[in-house]
Amino acid sequence: MRTGLGEASGDFEAEAASGAGDEGHAAPLGKPVQYRHRRFLSWRYRTEAEPSCQPRRALLLPEKALCPRTERISAMAQNIYDQPAFFEGYSSLPRSVHGLAGAAEWESVRALLPDLAGRHVVDLGCGFGWFARHAAAEGAESVLALDLSENMLARARAETQSLAVRYEIADLDTLELPAAGFDFAYSSLAFHYIADFDRLVRIVHAALVPGSSFVFTIEHPLYMAPSRPGWAEVDGRTVWPVDGYLVEGPRTTDWLAKGVVKYHRTLGTTLNALIAAGFVIRHVEEWKPSEAQLAAHPEWQVELNRPMFLLIACERP
Ligand SMILES: C[S@@+](CC[C@H](N)C(=O)[O-])C[C@H]1O[C@@H](n2cnc3c(N)ncnc32)[C@H](O)[C@@H]1O
Repeated sequence: MRTGLGEASGDFEAEAASGAGDEGHAAPLGKPVQYRHRRFLSWRYRTEAEPSCQPRRALLLPEKALCPRTERISAMAQNIYDQPAFFEGYSSLPRSVHGLAGAAEWESVRALLPDLAGRHVVDLGCGFGWFARHAAAEGAESVLALDLSENMLARARAETQSLAVRYEIADLDTLELPAAGFDFAYSSLAFHYIADFDRLVRIVHAALVPGSSFVFTIEHPLYMAPSRPGWAEVDGRTVWPVDGYLVEGPRTTDWLAKGVVKYHRTLGTTLNALIAAGFVIRHVEEWKPSEAQLAAHPEWQVELNRPMFLLIACERP
């Protein structure tokens, strides 16, 4: 049986196989379920559950313009993180327990960050607020941390002491931000839930002052494109069969809850959206475990067969 960082049924945190699970920490989320996938078998895992800060320029803006509230949540946003079974499962993942240190890609992400001291940061899809607290600890002057989920924000608020951090509920699909209100934008593993990426990156571009950085991660498009993401054994090789890569749009998978909806975009579409919005792309990384991580977790070797995460750093000139 393959192990690696996660078996796919479509989420990065997806089914921890036997070992590393979500970004490399033992997290046996469920029992293996065998599916027939055309010529070969693919393995998927499922759980038992399956049968305040103010940005500098924003100070003069009305609260509603700065912080979109519940009424701005779009009809299309799924908000799966507020579904009790999903939230309970997600809360037990290693990255939910250990924070940034529990995220295998974190050191690679960190290498892309600018000096955060004195920055006015916006964190898009902040979840439990791990990065928001990190930014505050690094000296950020303000962090506006946005998320769709009341559950995620409740825990984020409970675990945050810094007065520099402010959490707000917001739907990234309908988000409005003050023009030139921030000098760093960040997002970790949230944009693959967003239907209208073009709109979002235009909003982010307008919200950054010239010279600002924008760093984000998503599930890699090769990871989430397949209709049935998962490893398969073919002629003695462990492969990740990809179908529908060029068919962009929603992907519905079962992980922690049935019918989790994400949005697949090709690598080209993602990069071109950034270019069209006016960003200069500085770094694109198809993340893989480091030598040290592979030495510590030999079972992650299979992760070299396809990228799980895409890391992008760009600048607003
Ligand atoms: C995988 S979690 C990542 C959380 C955090 N960024 C981290 O890396 O720990 C994805 C987050 O995106 C949020 N999210 C999903 N769709 C969203 C939307 N339309 N608007 C705002 N946040 C959304 C979820 O509520 C969840 O907190």
